[in-house]
Amino acid sequence: MTDLTSSIKNITVIGAGTMGSQIAMVAALAGYGTSLVDINERQLEQAKDQLWSRVDRDVEKGRRSAEAVEAAKARMHFSTDLEGAVSVSDFVIEAAIEDLKIKRELFANLDRIAPEHAILATNSSNIVSSKVADATNRPEKVCNMHFFNPALVMECVEVVPHERTSQATVETAAALAESFGKKVVKLNKEIPGFIANRLLNAIRREALSLHEEGIASAEDIDVAAKTALRHPMGPFELMDLVGIDVVYLIRMAEYEQTGNPESLPAQSVKRLYEQGDFGRKTGQGWYSYAN
Ligand SMILES: NC(=O)c1ccc[n+]([C@@H]2O[C@H](COP(=O)([O-])OP(=O)(O)OC[C@H]3O[C@@H](n4cnc5c(N)ncnc54)[C@H](O)[C@@H]3O)[C@@H](O)[C@H]2O)c1
Repeated sequence: MTDLTSSIKNITVIGAGTMGSQIAMVAALAGYGTSLVDINERQLEQAKDQLWSRVDRDVEKGRRSAEAVEAAKARMHFSTDLEGAVSVSDFVIEAAIEDLKIKRELFANLDRIAPEHAILATNSSNIVSSKVADATNRPEKVCNMHFFNPALVMECVEVVPHERTSQATVETAAALAESFGKKVVKLNKEIPGFIANRLLNAIRREALSLHEEGIASAEDIDVAAKTALRHPMGPFELMDLVGIDVVYLIRMAEYEQTGNPESLPAQSVKRLYEQGDFGRKTGQGWYSYAN
């Protein structure tokens, strides 16, 4: 714990989906009183079951101590009561569904109910925090705090200020992520996609363009990425894993923000999306997973 995090005792994470549930567990494991809030009771039950079995497995495999896991479980609260949780929180991490209207409503609400000193961060991958900060009366205490999936495992957290975010907010968010055991990447200003996803997109864009121009097959481009660049997966294999639908929708969301035709999905991605070939989840994408 540093001076910056010593005043943070309670954290609320909003949204008990893929990201929010694991971010909350990360916070509880780091010693914070943590509330995980969702509008959907079933989602909260499911998140609890999945988290408990995941950390119990970590104990069985010797990756975490039983004491640390039991203490973290005791620090976690699962609730649909946003006001009850947020009104006693020193830091809020929003990881609700990727919908600007819902996020703006949430931030206006959070501003009303959170203690005055509380920082309000969003884990959004595509919505920069200036888009939600102006729904609050504390824009200087709003920033992006971007975790990677799966949040219990991936080390990187990008901390991204908008024009009016204070330096104190950036430093506190960064110190909090470090106290979670994460590596922090601080951006000086906001840009859609932040750093890691922009790097990934640049490689993906080039791979798709090489393929669409008929320079090489998807398989051979993947082999080059893996054997020459030592990437753990090729760009086409990764699209199949993430989901062609997710890749397509992220491009469309960026296009809506930038209005730049270069943000649009590649033709080949659009075709797979329209065919319903979403990758591993449907058994067919760039590769076939029939078996
Ligand atoms: N999935 C990823 O790989 C990933 C990675 C980094 C960041 N993100 C970002 O994290 C956020 C969440 O993504 P996810 O993949 O976990 O989504 P998800 O669909 O798995 O979970 C979203 C959850 O939000 C809940 N929710 C919806 N409206 C709510 C409200 N008003 N109040 C409280 N809860 C509400 C839903 O019930 C659902 O449980 C998004 O902003 C996304 O951009 C996702």
